[in-house]
Amino acid sequence: MSWADQIAANDQKLLASLKSRSVSELEALVARHNAAYWDKNTPEISDEAYDRLVEALRRADPASPLLLALGETRPQAGENRRFDTVSHEVPMLSLDKCYDDETYLKWCAKIKGDFLAMPKIDGVACTLRYDVEGRLFLAATRGDGKQGDDITQNALAVEDIPNQVPKDLVKHNLADGKTYMEVRGEVFMLLSRFQQHFAEDFANPRNLAAGALKQKDPQKTRDAGLSFFPYGAMHLKQDSEQAKVTLLGKMGFREIPALLVGKSEELTEGYWHFARQRAALDYETDGVVIRADAVSEQARLGETAHHPKWAIAYKFQGESAQSRLDEVIWSLGRTGVITPVAVVAPVAVSGATVTKASLHNLAILQSLGLTRGALVEVVRRGGVIPHVERVLSAGEEPIEVPDICPSCGGGTAVAGDFLYCAKPAACPSVVKGQVAYFCSVIDLQGLGDKHLSGLIESGLLRTPADLYALTADKLLTLERMGPKLAAKIVLEIESKKTLAPAVFLAALGIPEVGPTVAATLCDAFGGFKPLMTVNEDQIQQVHGMGDAIAKSLVSGLRERANEIESLLTRVTLVQPPKNTSGDQRFADLSFVFTGKMAHMDRKSAQKAVTAYGGKTPSGVSKELNYLVVGDDGSPLLGEGQVSTKQKKAQGLQDKGAPIRIISETDFLKMLQADPEPNLEEASVKLEPSEQLKLI
Ligand code: IVH
Repeated sequence: MSWADQIAANDQKLLASLKSRSVSELEALVARHNAAYWDKNTPEISDEAYDRLVEALRRADPASPLLLALGETRPQAGENRRFDTVSHEVPMLSLDKCYDDETYLKWCAKIKGDFLAMPKIDGVACTLRYDVEGRLFLAATRGDGKQGDDITQNALAVEDIPNQVPKDLVKHNLADGKTYMEVRGEVFMLLSRFQQHFAEDFANPRNLAAGALKQKDPQKTRDAGLSFFPYGAMHLKQDSEQAKVTLLGKMGFREIPALLVGKSEELTEGYWHFARQRAALDYETDGVVIRADAVSEQARLGETAHHPKWAIAYKFQGESAQSRLDEVIWSLGRTGVITPVAVVAPVAVSGATVTKASLHNLAILQSLGLTRGALVEVVRRGGVIPHVERVLSAGEEPIEVPDICPSCGGGTAVAGDFLYCAKPAACPSVVKGQVAYFCSVIDLQGLGDKHLSGLIESGLLRTPADLYALTADKLLTLERMGPKLAAKIVLEIESKKTLAPAVFLAALGIPEVGPTVAATLCDAFGGFKPLMTVNEDQIQQVHGMGDAIAKSLVSGLRERANEIESLLTRVTLVQPPKNTSGDQRFADLSFVFTGKMAHMDRKSAQKAVTAYGGKTPSGVSKELNYLVVGDDGSPLLGEGQVSTKQKKAQGLQDKGAPIRIISETDFLKMLQADPEPNLEEASVKLEPSEQLKLI
């Protein structure tokens, strides 16, 4: 059973039994699920079910001491974050990377001046802010590079991170006008420590460090005994990276090894110096970071949205190992491609035991000349997925290419480099893959793996369009489905009848057309429908859209035309609000959403806020500006229950916090042209025709 299925089944069982539970049983359940979530990091029920469990306890015994103790301990429904969100003033970008001297030297040629090389630590990126008094006042994870989690309390518990640095050093070295310095680096665990205490229970030190940093209880972070290497600092006067590294050492940080390589020296030494040391280091490294040493040169070169142009990660080649090819298995994907996977005798590669290795596609399998029993080289290059690099000595038996689909037993066909199921539309695995993908892209919750299989087996689901014809009665024919879950799923499907064009396109799962490409294309052609008639040339006119995307999109849309037509009789495509004018009406304002939204989904609402310069923190705090209550069953409209978030906001209002609690309709008005809506106006539920205009 998949994890999601298990959660759905647990939810159902729990919710069905709530009414008959005594107070002490409810308390025991709350305590157990709280511990599963926080202590074991493996929740057994959904956040929503947890909230209902707490609510049941509140109704049964409002004075239960457990309720008082709970406080903020678990996120509210729909959220699984436990930390406040921090916006990075300077984004935490990725690094450009290379694997060979040629690419590296090409990059070097664009840089003026000296280079500073240092090991690339395989840990968890973290940013730290110190005030003018030298006090650590904020620590955050990288997150998506723009926003991360506030982990200050946990960073304070990492012994290797100074809580206080000498204030004179900060004062003397802060750049003009700056009120804090920011140190960026990597939290990691020393290998010696990992091997001594944790190797039996954890896969690797990196995952352990990441988990330890995200503990709710800082004592647990402290107990892990993490280390920290700073690799950079901002808002300081220093004009070179080397000077910054030295200063950070003086301030009390562990000093990261660094090698200055002059422009006229052997440039590859920057890499080889640390590559040679790798095995002797007491921490894991996955490459060498080389950057322009002069801050002025960095400013000249600038950044792309993804990485600074003044730095590069020269990554270590993944380690390789030799093993015996026992078998090739054929795995069917949602696009109908049948991919060969090598099953090899277990072998350790880069710290993990490998038993399966990718062969990518039929053409690669054939060009390798694989035979059963062959001695093969298995490589993990620059990532996690190992693959078969080459055959070292041949085995006995040839590998047959299947002429039968491993899933439906129908025929197979070869096209280009790939092997396909010949009848994907009738192949249950392909259908299931496509529908599951559709559900995940449109964020349709509740239908688990087993449910999908059941619906496909009974013929109720043959394409994603059939999702919209599901009724509670049809769902109730499934195993592990009760009336409540069925009703919930029907509501969920209902709420996905309006989709953004780019979400709809991405959900079709056409190869090469993921969410980013889909957004670019819908933007360029003004929606989804115009795409149905564009040709490959027109697509390639769009910046970033190449031959492969153009071909795949045109053929994918053509092949799926009937299915798309039928989907579009059930789904309305509506463009979410866009901010092309640079309008920053929500600058410095923060919004948190609670309750079920009736007119737009929560993600789109949050996106709209950030598009207008606002913030969407994860929880209610006294700094919050607006709590938006969804109109569906809203207590503001005289229906339903007040959510935990709303109660908290009301409590803070009572203490004088200037939070405004507004309805979803009020929020939609704020999104409209008038940047100063009259929020005192009564909240009105919009007519469906008006809703569409708004979103
Ligand atoms: S310099 C713009 N130096 O690698 C980023 N990064 O793959 C400048 N990393 O998120 C980063 N060791 O967390 C730099 N010595 C080092 C590093 C290092 C590890 C991480 C960093 C970044 C990631 C990018």
